[in-house]
Amino acid sequence: MQFIISRYNPQIDKIPYDQTFELDNTQISTDSMLLDALHLLREQDPSLAYRSSCQEGVCGSDGMNVNGRNRLSCITPLSDLPQKIVIKPMPGLPIIKDLIIDMELFYQQYQGVDPFLQSEPLDLQHEHLQSPEDRAKLDGSYECILCGCCTTSCPSFWWNPDQFAGPAALLAAHRFVIDSRDIQHVDRLKNLDSPTQIFRCRHIQNCTDACPKGLNPSRAIQELKSIMVKEI
Ligand code: SF4
Ligand code: SF4
Ligand code: FES
Repeated sequence: MQFIISRYNPQIDKIPYDQTFELDNTQISTDSMLLDALHLLREQDPSLAYRSSCQEGVCGSDGMNVNGRNRLSCITPLSDLPQKIVIKPMPGLPIIKDLIIDMELFYQQYQGVDPFLQSEPLDLQHEHLQSPEDRAKLDGSYECILCGCCTTSCPSFWWNPDQFAGPAALLAAHRFVIDSRDIQHVDRLKNLDSPTQIFRCRHIQNCTDACPKGLNPSRAIQELKSIMVKEI
């Protein structure tokens, strides 16, 4: 298999360049993931930089752009990929080194939607109960692992990363707006009601296509718009 990987060391390089690696098919088993291949490639060139941790699709650290699509390398089977694999850092955020991007703005946007329950009375001694039906409404919203695959696929985020929160943050906003225990949903909606915020989403659905957890941020944003029309 051939791997064409974008390399960039800001201390040496003016711009990113491509480096070609090869792996013999005997080095790969039928259940190998792309991350396994990267580990082998790093044995060839220890300077190759990428993030990974859990290797199970849980921590969200190893997002990268593979043949034009954002993916988590640890749950991308090599058997699903062609013999020639082009790997780049996820687009739309600054590159720190090779496949590692600076996620600071992504986390700031997430922080900006207050991704925590605001309930009353604030009683830390007891659970905040909700019915099984209300709990079920959160399915599809709470499972986000903050990998950034969706937000860095979003053209609206590419053009206005400091203004448009992006699909991951808006999925989190949706999760708390629809939570029956949260008392701030009107203020949450007002904060999103702006041409540079939620209405910047054009529902092209890049985000939903990119999500490795099968979540649907585009639909959540559409629902937020519908709730906004009814409630504010
Ligand atoms: S549907 Fe909205 S949030 Fe998702 S990629 Fe398109 S513009 Fe971005
Ligand atoms: S919604 Fe999906 S793609 Fe976006 S950050 Fe969460 S898990 Fe990753
Ligand atoms: S290494 Fe944790 S999600 Fe891939």
